[in-house]
Amino acid sequence: MTSRQIQAIRGMNDILPEEALLWEFFEDTARAWLRAYGYRAIRTPILERTELFVRSIGAVTDIVEKEMYTFIDELNGESLTLRPEGTASCVRAVIEHNLLYSGPQRLWYWGPMFRHERPQKGRYRQFHQVGVEALGFGGPDIDAEHIVMCARLWRMLGLDGVALELNTLGGSDARARYRARLVKYLERHRESLDDDSKRRLHTNPLRVLDSKNPVMQELIEGAPRLADDLDEDSLRHFSDLQAKLRSVGIAFALNPRLVRGLDYYNGAVYEWVTDRLGAQGTVCAGGRYDGLIAQIGGKPAPACGFAMGVERLLALVSDGAASASRSAPDVYLVHQGAAADPFAEQVAERLRDHRVNVLLHCGGGSFKSQMKKADASGARFALIVGDDEAQAGEVSIKPLRELAEQVRVSIEEAADLIKKSVISDS
Ligand code: HAM
Repeated sequence: MTSRQIQAIRGMNDILPEEALLWEFFEDTARAWLRAYGYRAIRTPILERTELFVRSIGAVTDIVEKEMYTFIDELNGESLTLRPEGTASCVRAVIEHNLLYSGPQRLWYWGPMFRHERPQKGRYRQFHQVGVEALGFGGPDIDAEHIVMCARLWRMLGLDGVALELNTLGGSDARARYRARLVKYLERHRESLDDDSKRRLHTNPLRVLDSKNPVMQELIEGAPRLADDLDEDSLRHFSDLQAKLRSVGIAFALNPRLVRGLDYYNGAVYEWVTDRLGAQGTVCAGGRYDGLIAQIGGKPAPACGFAMGVERLLALVSDGAASASRSAPDVYLVHQGAAADPFAEQVAERLRDHRVNVLLHCGGGSFKSQMKKADASGARFALIVGDDEAQAGEVSIKPLRELAEQVRVSIEEAADLIKKSVISDS
């Protein structure tokens, strides 16, 4: 009797080898892109104290109220949470290790995030983000840098049709004034609010504007606008940012309804959206969060950043882009014979010293069956080692993807030949 199979958790995906190729292409591209702008990596734990997210993302947000994977550590009774996003952890680490002491920091991180949302295409319970944070920078030049960076990454990935939406949320005074006006308005229309909005009316009224419920749209259209309460500083910051974007030719649309689902934002916020992914069209989002560092115990300092959803971006990347990154080995090494087998292992290592990618046949079998595997591997060459070759300290090399003679050469000559052919092909 076979045992019952165990399957992955709903909303948490395996990335199988074929698909992993596309991920590697993305990771390589992203690393080169981040280096080009002088960002340095920071790696933080996946598990944090729950309080970190409550205090940064906000107690009355969807994420904290209903989407976090939280549990009690039975050893000490502490409440812990799988990170639902990366900004809070990054800021915590920067404060804890006093990184701002040596000046402003340009940082990035990458990895899985966890949100207990209802899974659907483009929305998962474990998903991946590449996040970028600039801490200690206050001017609109860095906001512009982030947006320009994103535009470059879309080009590097061969994406088009990703549009930029911009808004500004203003400083905390402006937000408080606006909140009061909005609550008054929503209270006047209480009978038209759906249950979610009624619940948010006094806890997080700005989020009512984010409602996707069609019956709420007319009410939302008629709501007072934050723009009328904005302070001079944020208006100036926002118009400087827009001028910078225009000067480098980055198109954007102003969206006064863009409020973001995390409470730490103030000032300029933005989302990159596509209409090619259905309801989950936001591929990247971010903005200013000047109050967050102080809010979680650091010395006040301005900051801003963004994060992109890797699964959503990869759904837009064409297969052509991915096939640019080859997965096939350069060489499949077939071998048979008492002297040949140990010699083949040495040959494989010597070739790898020369940066040749070698798939060494394992598991025995006839030359014929091994050659079939070599063909199927997609390798450019089969390297054949029998006892004859082993005694002479040589290898036979057979091109698999072009009509050419098999030749017998030294290991060094084989390495040269393979490298030349790989380089001329790339
Ligand atoms: P966020 O808007 O919550 O912001 O997430 C950023 C991006 O992560 C989204 O635009 C989306 O592409 C992706 N994403 C979010 N949830 C899911 C999900 N369940 N499944 C798949 N993809 C998802 C943040 O997380 C902020 N920390 C961004 C930031 C960094 N702001 C400043 N610095």
